[in-house]
Amino acid sequence: MCGIIGYVGEQEAADVIVEGLRRLEYRGYDSAGVAIVNGDIRLRRAVGKLKNLAKSLLAEPISGTVGIGHTRWATHGRPTEPNAHPHVVGRVAVVHNGIIENHLELRAELEADGHVFSSETDTEIFSHLIDRTVQTGVSLADAVQAATSSVRGAYAIAVLDQADPSTVVVAKQQSPLILGVGDGEMFCASDIPAILSHTRDVVFLEDGDMAVLTADDFQIRRFATGEAIARETTRVQWSAVAAEKGGYKHFMLKEIHEQARAITDTIRGRVSLESGDVFAEGLELSGDELSALRRIIIIACGTSWHAALVGKHYIEQATRIPVEVDLASEFRYRDPIVDAHTLVIAISQSGETADTLAALKESQRRGAKTAAIVNVIGSSIARAAGNVLYTHAGPEIGVASTKAFTTQMTALYLIAVHFGRALGTVDADKGRELLEALVAVPGEVTRAIELNAGVRDIAHQYLAATSALYLGRGLLHPIALEGALKLKEISYIHAEGYAAGEMKHGPIALVDEHTPTIVAAPRGPTFEKTCSNLQEVAARHGQVIVVGDEDDTTLQGLSDAYLPIPKTTPWTAPLVSVIPLQLLAYHLADLKGTDIDQPRNLAKSVTVE
Ligand code: AGP
Repeated sequence: MCGIIGYVGEQEAADVIVEGLRRLEYRGYDSAGVAIVNGDIRLRRAVGKLKNLAKSLLAEPISGTVGIGHTRWATHGRPTEPNAHPHVVGRVAVVHNGIIENHLELRAELEADGHVFSSETDTEIFSHLIDRTVQTGVSLADAVQAATSSVRGAYAIAVLDQADPSTVVVAKQQSPLILGVGDGEMFCASDIPAILSHTRDVVFLEDGDMAVLTADDFQIRRFATGEAIARETTRVQWSAVAAEKGGYKHFMLKEIHEQARAITDTIRGRVSLESGDVFAEGLELSGDELSALRRIIIIACGTSWHAALVGKHYIEQATRIPVEVDLASEFRYRDPIVDAHTLVIAISQSGETADTLAALKESQRRGAKTAAIVNVIGSSIARAAGNVLYTHAGPEIGVASTKAFTTQMTALYLIAVHFGRALGTVDADKGRELLEALVAVPGEVTRAIELNAGVRDIAHQYLAATSALYLGRGLLHPIALEGALKLKEISYIHAEGYAAGEMKHGPIALVDEHTPTIVAAPRGPTFEKTCSNLQEVAARHGQVIVVGDEDDTTLQGLSDAYLPIPKTTPWTAPLVSVIPLQLLAYHLADLKGTDIDQPRNLAKSVTVE
């Protein structure tokens, strides 16, 4: 999830762009860059945080009143200067937020046509396509329009042409892009915060829109047909801080609502519903390599460990290879039995968790094959593991992990199907069935959020609780653990997650009218038994809050409070059931007034052991 900005007007473009990028830095900070057209195209890029670019521009300013800028959250290509945006080819400079799905085939075609690439990014394809076209005398706008007919995927782009120095052309497809309408100046940006200090008049572009910006005007057209179209201008009332959170009170709430998009982006370009296959680029093992494995061990910490517990079910059911899950902090001190027939998978949102990195290196020292599921490209764990499947969740700012968790489970789901298909233990029909269920999850997550619009009222009822029990079975046991962790880490209310079948072995002694029990009970293989546990709690005057199918009136009748979700399959149930638990924890914490995005004693990345 990168940040892009463009400007055309009378101010120094570099100042407007750097200030705007500062407002977008929460969208990614691997590198940043600007391109300004002033006679020719002046390019400046810097790896790392935005301050590095700002320092460079302070030392050697670039003047000009038309330009584009970018702050990068790497998805393709490591965070290096050559991979930083803007990407200049010939007369054209491009900044891009999104993922080009057919970038490999387009790159091959362009290279066969004599184009030489200077980066590892998918974005550079736009620069070559558009430059090739404008060089034939076609206008920048028409060249951008032509490029969109070749590219598949998600993109928000802003483009400059040295030969057309008073214009910025933009296009939007499944990545956010807005226009800012000023007095004698125009802006484009990934998000409102970037331009709020200049104008509150915003045009929200739609997928399939492109626009030509000059200082006094903007023209919008549909890039599929070239048809001109009008979009209304909205006056935005948000404060700058509120705008960075997209109008949400906390980053955590914004990130809960981003999960449908994050899951979509993690799946994007990696599945074939026709063949039932997965292209888990970066973590693809052949049938022979998998057949040589005797065991898979997944190591992680915290929420990532909960994702690992879900992944165990997926991978064992798909491959019949034994999967162990271990806390990274425990793994490295138990003299683990690891050898060349073991695959160790590290899961980490930050890619910097010290215990996970150390456990990964210990695995390698003992001769294991290693791989990783990571959100931050180029992070230490990603670099150490070698084989990496990235979650495309975008930067997760809230300390409490939400979209990273659901995208980690999505990545494990993809890996399980890929391994099963490679081994032949999952046939094409089963692969198609599993993948069709997965691609439906973003819509189910959105519906789960809609169905739980009233969860704050439930949180209110349990505000006085000083302890809570979370129960789940099978694939929902890790969700019980995750729900408990969310509650305790942001509301400071003690909570324990338990396998529902364990209640009779001790925890039921905790049940009383003051200790709510939250039960994950969507219909599925473990439903009946979970219902029995639920009734055992109710029979002892325990308050039960239940996550269940939205049409399950029987279950609702057994519940003191109900958190409805759409119908799911056994494998997708964890991805959807966690949503109401995230929201419940959030609203309880918000009602308690804790510092939700930065809870006491916690850090977003635990880089010490
Ligand atoms: C989860 O909400 C916490 N922020 C924490 O448990 C986190 O999942 C854990 O520290 C692991 O972090 P990582 O995924 O970046 O390795």
